Amino acid sequence: MISVEKGYVDMAIDNSVDIKSEILRLKKEKNAVILAHYYQRNEIQDIADYIGDSLALAQIAAKVDADIIVMCGVHFMGETAKILCPDKKVIVPDMNGGCSLADSCPADEFASFVKDHPQHTVISYVNTSAAVKAHTDIVVTSSNAKEIVESLPNDEKIIFGPDRNLGNYINSITGRNMILWNGACDVHEKFSLEKILALKEKNNNAKILVHPECKKSVQMIADKVGSTQALLNYAIKDECYTFIVATESGIIHEMQKKCPLKTFIPAPPEDGSCSCNECAYMKLITLEKLYNSLKYELPEINVDKEVAEKAIVSINRMLDISKQLGIIK
Ligand code: 13P
Ligand code: SF4
Repeated sequence: MISVEKGYVDMAIDNSVDIKSEILRLKKEKNAVILAHYYQRNEIQDIADYIGDSLALAQIAAKVDADIIVMCGVHFMGETAKILCPDKKVIVPDMNGGCSLADSCPADEFASFVKDHPQHTVISYVNTSAAVKAHTDIVVTSSNAKEIVESLPNDEKIIFGPDRNLGNYINSITGRNMILWNGACDVHEKFSLEKILALKEKNNNAKILVHPECKKSVQMIADKVGSTQALLNYAIKDECYTFIVATESGIIHEMQKKCPLKTFIPAPPEDGSCSCNECAYMKLITLEKLYNSLKYELPEINVDKEVAEKAIVSINRMLDISKQLGIIK
C-alpha cells in the first residue's frame, strides 16, 4: 500500500530514471493529461499539456478527453476539475497546496453570511473550497468577474466572496455595490507599493501590470489590472518593452517565452529582501512528485457527492455565461 500520509507519494526515485521521459511515457500509457497553472515551477509548466489561468484550467478540465487529469495547481483547482469530471481520476501531486484566499473563507461561516443576506445573488471567486461553491449561485474567476457581474440586472443585490480586493475592484469598475466577504490572498496583498514605485523610477519606460487580488494602492498605479491571462495578453500585444509584474512571479516564465525580447521585472513583496513574490503552495509540486503521482495515480482528489452536485451548478453557470458572452469558446 502506497502511503500519501504526507500529502504526496514520498517514494525514492532511482538515479537511473530519466524523470522527464518517464512522465511523458506514463502519461501516454495511462491516457493522462497534465494541466498546470501559470504560477507553477518553470519545469512543471514546460512539461504540462496545457498551462493557463484558473478559468482556462476549469474550461480545459471540463472538455478534456483523458482518463486521468493531473492538476498541477492548488487544492481548489483539483476539486473544480473533479466536480466537472466526476468520472475521471483527478490527481494533485501535492495535496498540501492550499490557498490563503480559499482558507480565508470557511464554508460554515460563508453559509451564515449567505443566510444573513436573503434575496442576494451569491458570487464566489473560484479560489474557494467546493463546500463554499456549494453555497454559491455563480462562480467567477478574475478573467470573467467583471463581465459576469455586468450581465446581471443593475438592481440585482449581490454578495461577493472571498477576495475583498477583487470585489472592491469590480465594484469600482462596474458601479455596483456588492457586499464583500473580507478575505484576501497573502501573496498578492504583500506587494510593496514603495518598492514598485522605486522600480518604476529606475525603469522609467516600464509599464506596471497588476493582478486584481493586489491592494487598491497597488492597483491605482497600474497600467493594466487583470487576471494572469489578461496580463500575459497585454504584455504580448503592448508596444512597451519593459514590464513590472505584480502577480505571482511564475507567470514571468510564460511572458518571457512569448516575448523573448521584452524584459519582465517581478514586483517585490514588502517583507524581506526577496526580489520576487512566490506562492509557496504553488511551488510545492516538483517533477519528482509529478512522476510519483502519475506512477502510483495518487493522491487522488475526491469531493463529497452532495457537495459536488451543488457546486457544479455554480461552476457550470460561470462556464455557460462565459460562453454566452464570448469570453470562452
Ligand atoms: P487567475 O489564474 O484567475 O488569474 O488567479 C490567480 C490566482 O491567484 C490563482 O490562484
Ligand atoms: Fe491562493 Fe494567492 Fe496562492 Fe493564488 S497566489 S493560490 S490566491 S495563495
